[in-house]
Amino acid sequence: MVARVVPVPAFDLIVFGATGDLSKRKLLPALYQRFRDGQLPEAARILGTGRSPMEDDGFRQLAEEAIQNHVAADHRDADSLRRFVSLLGYVPLSVDSDDDWRALSDRLAHGEDRPCVFYLSVGPDLFGPIARQLAAHGLNGSNVRIVVEKPLGHDLASARDLNSQLAEVFQEGQIYRIDHYLGKETVQNLMALRFANALFEPVWNARHVDHVQITVAESVGVAGRGGFYDATGATRDMVQNHLLQLLCLTAMEPPAHFDPDAVRDEKVKVLRSLTPPSGSDDIVRGQYRGNERLESYGEDVGDPASRTESFVAIKAAVANWRWSGTPFYLRTGKRLRARMSEIAVFFKDAPHSIFPHSAGEPLPNVLAIRLQPDEGITLSMTIKDPGPGGMRLTGANLDMTFADGLGQPDLRMPDAYERLVMDVVRGDQTLFMRSDEVEAAWAWIDPLITDWAERRDRPTPYDIASSGPEDALMLMHRDGRRWREIAI
Ligand code: BG6
Repeated sequence: MVARVVPVPAFDLIVFGATGDLSKRKLLPALYQRFRDGQLPEAARILGTGRSPMEDDGFRQLAEEAIQNHVAADHRDADSLRRFVSLLGYVPLSVDSDDDWRALSDRLAHGEDRPCVFYLSVGPDLFGPIARQLAAHGLNGSNVRIVVEKPLGHDLASARDLNSQLAEVFQEGQIYRIDHYLGKETVQNLMALRFANALFEPVWNARHVDHVQITVAESVGVAGRGGFYDATGATRDMVQNHLLQLLCLTAMEPPAHFDPDAVRDEKVKVLRSLTPPSGSDDIVRGQYRGNERLESYGEDVGDPASRTESFVAIKAAVANWRWSGTPFYLRTGKRLRARMSEIAVFFKDAPHSIFPHSAGEPLPNVLAIRLQPDEGITLSMTIKDPGPGGMRLTGANLDMTFADGLGQPDLRMPDAYERLVMDVVRGDQTLFMRSDEVEAAWAWIDPLITDWAERRDRPTPYDIASSGPEDALMLMHRDGRRWREIAI
């Protein structure tokens, strides 16, 4: 059960690439969950489109199977599934066939006033052509919203090109660029933690924060999408978007209002304050080697000589008044010890210890915001070791796992797509990236990637199920710091 449900108005949603992986794994299950929770009206219409010829019934069956495969049995039931698939239909469509576009626009003919969402779950090479066809068939009116998802370019120039193709036919206020990390509950909670509580703001700065660690570790490899990944690498796939978004939400100034442009203005300022890493020691690229059970990265992507990184660690600096002198360490990688994502804010040591040497050293306060697994927030404190043995200091966690904290241990955390798709229908862009944000992120990433390409060096190998290459540990050790453990 999700805590509270505010129904959305009737809408039309048209999914391009509706028979693809994202649609089956994420979109259809997310829409079903919102329907089951009573948020979608029965008058909503969801149309799949794609090149495969298919009738409405075929698509309904595909959706039913996708939901059975990707939604846990205790979160679905036959009655709501039957009612949900009755909202679905399918229109076969080749992007360059005017007849197909006319058929789609006829099907949408009634209901012009409702929000109409075109979700482009297709490669970025089709964003421009689809946008132009929508406009040519009068499907870009003010009730229309268009949703696109990464990769939003592979460098600054290509991102600008995509932005300008969309801007030819849509206003910025109609374009929803998804970064699914922004839809994760804890990521939104980071904003609540910072801006709905007075406790942290006075210490949320370089005077009190020693450093910040942002980790997105995955235990999976790249098998199955090797071609895409090998042309992309961890820096483009994860840092340019997800990790930089987490950094922005951690580092941004309080916006004056919680409205889309106020929030995004502050995030853009952070991105523009990022300075280039000061030297090659501040970036470590890694690539997993194989073991007796699992293949190496090179084998997974079918190119043993590949120079693409499956791991990257970067020491980043936000050069502004609030953060000058407080490094932000970012790391992400595949085939690491565990699937674990968190933002950890390390506070500075107490200025003076009053305790005798025998009490032991006080530990730093660390505020850890856990994205997955077990979403929640932990604050590590130094306390007195209980018992009569004199003053001895030890560490303890103030732990708030959200499900427990809300007194609902079986609370189902909604998937990011549930929140994001509903926001598109409601017309709320707060959790979506604006064009200048995407470009500012690429402007910081581009020189790193160009530099590697010019140097032609190979990423450092690391063991499967490790924390990444030794060099990444050294990156921290040189600064007298340590990464937090990657563990569940
Ligand atoms: C995607 C990346 O954007 O995010 C994938 O392309 C990655 O490589 C995925 O596995 C991670 O998302 P999540 O939600 O599982 O942490």
